[in-house]
Amino acid sequence: MALTRRVLVTGGAGFIGSHFARHLLSSYPDYRVTVLDALTYAGSLSNIADLMENPNFAFYHGDVRDAVVMRNLVRNHDWVVNFAAETHVDRSILNPGSFLQTDVYGAYVLLEACREYGGKRFLQVSTDEVYGEVLEGFADENAPLRPRSPYSASKASAELLVMAYHQTYGLDVVITRGSNTYGPNQYPEKMIPLFVTNALEDRPLPLYGDGTQVRDWIYVLDHCTAIDTVLHHGATGMVYNVGAGNLLKNRAVAEKILELLGKPASLIQSVTDRPGHDRRYAVDTSRLRAMGWEPRWAFETGLKQTIDWYRSHRQWWQEIKGKGEYQQFTRQWYHERGGLAPSQEVHSGAVKED
Ligand code: TYD
Repeated sequence: MALTRRVLVTGGAGFIGSHFARHLLSSYPDYRVTVLDALTYAGSLSNIADLMENPNFAFYHGDVRDAVVMRNLVRNHDWVVNFAAETHVDRSILNPGSFLQTDVYGAYVLLEACREYGGKRFLQVSTDEVYGEVLEGFADENAPLRPRSPYSASKASAELLVMAYHQTYGLDVVITRGSNTYGPNQYPEKMIPLFVTNALEDRPLPLYGDGTQVRDWIYVLDHCTAIDTVLHHGATGMVYNVGAGNLLKNRAVAEKILELLGKPASLIQSVTDRPGHDRRYAVDTSRLRAMGWEPRWAFETGLKQTIDWYRSHRQWWQEIKGKGEYQQFTRQWYHERGGLAPSQEVHSGAVKED
């Protein structure tokens, strides 16, 4: 008989978290999945609307920093998968505080709840950005942590806490360090959904600096199966890199998007670079692959699927781009910081109060 597990997915109304909750429910019909989400700007019930009727699914609106709520939830679950985080590097440059609050303090609250009740497995969803820039070769899990942005420093800090709870209190923990992820439902501030949606509206694609920075792109469903593998089979106290080996320069990604959409390359607009911009990320994933995991999506296949989704879900992203919060951020980041003229808005629609 299949084993019933109760899994708490924090941040499960966000991009990767919502795909992961769906993946668990469809792959393990006996599992109970609870999504906890604060529904801040990037989390949305629309990402999990299809799960609401599933009898094995529950949604809880709450904040990972709320110790009372988290203790009650953690108590009733076997596994905790922590996606709850502020994730956008550019926002961390403008406002580091919220990253410390959610990514670091939130992890601490969850870990404390796990410590109190015991017997839980805690999976921390982290990022390959904790290594800082990897100018050559591939970082394996023993490479030093050299985060360079407030975002990656927050995620590295959370990892250190997770490991401290493993060493000190014997908590059963595993950590995944994922590479740049793309796919449907990603908030259109990250490069791929921003560029795809801008291109669909014939707006400029704001490319930072010379566009030669390199990222390793993984399709969101591949990222989910990797987390699933580590959750079920990862050794306690162990870290696992997650990446698909699609190392591409940003300019090449922008050009591919335009090519697939039949739009002119002239839409690419060079803008002021991000301060402290990591030039390259690259991870060695042999530890994860030794557990039998491998990515299924070639980059172009995943990108086409992603573009198709944004093409057929205009309302989803146009609503976001029409919000005052979104427009305020893009104005502050792309226009006031320098680079794009006000006539080259990266968003569309009139400003609405959120
Ligand atoms: P992003 O999606 O923000 O992920 P991360 O910074 O966590 O890697 O950015 C991916 C790459 O794209 C990164 O090198 C920064 C670059 N980029 C642009 O050139 N223009 C943009 O408008 C954005 C958002 C990102």
